[in-house]
Amino acid sequence: MRDAGDLVDQGSIVTGGRGTDILRRSLAEGVLHGDAELLLQQLARESVDLFFTSPPYADARAYSRIHPDRYVEWFLPFARSMYEAAKPSGSLILNIKNRVAKDGPLKGQRHPYVYHLVLALQNMGWRWIETYIWAKPNGVPGKFGPRTKDSFEYVYHFTRGPKPYFDLDAIRVPYKADEAEIARRKRDTAGRRSTEAGFGRDRTKTYLLGGADPGNVVSVSQTYNQHRGVAHTAAMPEGLAEFFIKAATPKGGIVIDPFAGGATTIVVARRLGRLAGGFEIHERFVEDALRRIAADVADDIPGQLVNAGLG
Ligand SMILES: C[S@@+](CC[C@H](N)C(=O)[O-])C[C@H]1O[C@@H](n2cnc3c(N)ncnc32)[C@H](O)[C@@H]1O
Repeated sequence: MRDAGDLVDQGSIVTGGRGTDILRRSLAEGVLHGDAELLLQQLARESVDLFFTSPPYADARAYSRIHPDRYVEWFLPFARSMYEAAKPSGSLILNIKNRVAKDGPLKGQRHPYVYHLVLALQNMGWRWIETYIWAKPNGVPGKFGPRTKDSFEYVYHFTRGPKPYFDLDAIRVPYKADEAEIARRKRDTAGRRSTEAGFGRDRTKTYLLGGADPGNVVSVSQTYNQHRGVAHTAAMPEGLAEFFIKAATPKGGIVIDPFAGGATTIVVARRLGRLAGGFEIHERFVEDALRRIAADVADDIPGQLVNAGLG
């Protein structure tokens, strides 16, 4: 069984070292070529607002084959370093998917590695705030045994401390009610009704918030290698990154993706006025990612990427 590390290509790999300011370099350069396990250890303590990442899933791709039985053990060193580097108000938001066991006593069943990982992170001190379902309306049909096609993935939100940054207003969605109904509710002088349906809640206030709470099922179509200039085989859709970056970071906040791949997190975060960087172990992905970042930043409003007190 091979690990991601066995497949590392050589080249301009960054290993850092004492005194190397990895955070500053990754924010400036976009994606650093190197092993996140080493690079995360060198981030300044309590410096990062959000780690938003989709690590290699267990046993999934040619670029990293981590057996599900060993996945938790593999991931924990990354998680420990992210914990150290997260601000007290900071978050770790992890997109991951479970899989069917290919071998062993669980062969043919769902392997529980995702659930073991979540519990291990919670035991480490990461506060498990929410489990989101990323619903994929365009999941690819295929033969999956006695089950339907995969049409969702998990996104787990953990925070470092008890008072995390979270801006629900930034991710509100249009109300389902039509304008006439909204206007009527706003004029309602007796919104609080302790009926079976109302539970004493003041329903006049619902429509004063600028939009509805989106809920914890986030529906975003999967994109299949459609990003400009990016050939990564597992790039996430930009809409998914946008939702979580908006909710979990302030403008000017620092976002790091330790498993950057095609740099979706970085491109989206920068577009939203955050400072963003990441790490990627495979040089060919780094090259693509840097090209994509350069193309995207070129379209940005000048001055958007302001220095957020790092100077
Ligand atoms: C699921 S992909 C990320 C895709 C990314 N979210 C995007 O939208 O393009 C995971 C990435 O992690 C990288 N990777 C695996 N092990 C790594 C490590 N130890 N350090 C840094 N990157 C690693 C893989 O090469 C792969 O590109």
